Amino acid sequence: MKTEVLKALRQQEGYISGQKLCEQLGVSRTAVWKVISQLKEEGYAIESVTNKGYCLIREPNVLSESEILSRIHTNCIGKQVQYFDTLDSTNTYCGREGERLAHGTLVVAEEQTAGLGSRGRSWTSPKGSSIYMSLLLKPDIMPDVAPRLTLVMALSVARAFRRMGVEVQIKWPNDIVIKGKKLVGILTEMRAEIGYVHQVVIGVGINVLTEQFPEELSQRATSVLLETGKAFSRAQLVAEILDCFEQDYDIFLRTCDLSELLEQYTQFSVTIGKEVCVLEQKETYNGRALGVNETGQLLVACEDGSVKKVFADEVSVRGIYGYV
Ligand code: BTN
Repeated sequence: MKTEVLKALRQQEGYISGQKLCEQLGVSRTAVWKVISQLKEEGYAIESVTNKGYCLIREPNVLSESEILSRIHTNCIGKQVQYFDTLDSTNTYCGREGERLAHGTLVVAEEQTAGLGSRGRSWTSPKGSSIYMSLLLKPDIMPDVAPRLTLVMALSVARAFRRMGVEVQIKWPNDIVIKGKKLVGILTEMRAEIGYVHQVVIGVGINVLTEQFPEELSQRATSVLLETGKAFSRAQLVAEILDCFEQDYDIFLRTCDLSELLEQYTQFSVTIGKEVCVLEQKETYNGRALGVNETGQLLVACEDGSVKKVFADEVSVRGIYGYV
């Protein structure tokens, strides 16, 4: 009901009468009044004026279930939201509880005490400034196809930013960067057996309102606030990502490859066309990134004239993250 009240308050320019709210939601005046009181306690500035009704003046920049649900337009993705003030890691939580969570559930935390980065690194996750979220999927796909979902999410995040008026780029496969600094990290994990995927968890960490980074990160990381000077609504950003992801995911499922998404992915890519350095487990080599194929591999033209298909190795792009 909070979700519906929020939607109605937002849709109305100026005041909405208590009577109209009751009729729209099919509940009593007391029920409406109670929800309004709860919202005020949660930090919403709502003006109540006799004979006029209620007017939403200001919303707190929070990631509550009702904030997210009142902004999404999806059929399945993010229709169930689990919000936590604090969690070890939203990815770890999905791994633990995934069995009983529905496909498309979104888990969000205000803070993570053991945030996971890719390749066994940690993801610093302080309170109040970022988005830490994981999307749980139970797709009917083969295990070898699942890593492609990381690239699908990278595209969805980039599109969501564009919708909000912020131009970002994708550093293959899945970092979102702005002016050469990292804004978003994506970590996809899966539980599978040979030939069968139980669940895929796509974790997304976004620096939104961060004002300062620890010394060791400040050369490489940035936030939406630092780059644009604007305090974007975190819930709106999450909602745009979910809307975009549902569209991109549906397209992906038609072929289980990236063929129909590649054109857009390429447009956002900061990697393609650049000199890159590929750090494989055993060797490191330089080349020029030619493109990404439908399975998500990066095609690299090497100095000896051969073209290598890079799967998921670490790739540095000249000029990005201070590549040397
Ligand atoms: C990277 O190293 O670039 C990936 C970072 C992924 C961080 C996000 S934050 C939400 C989710 N939960 C985690 O523990 N990690 C991911």
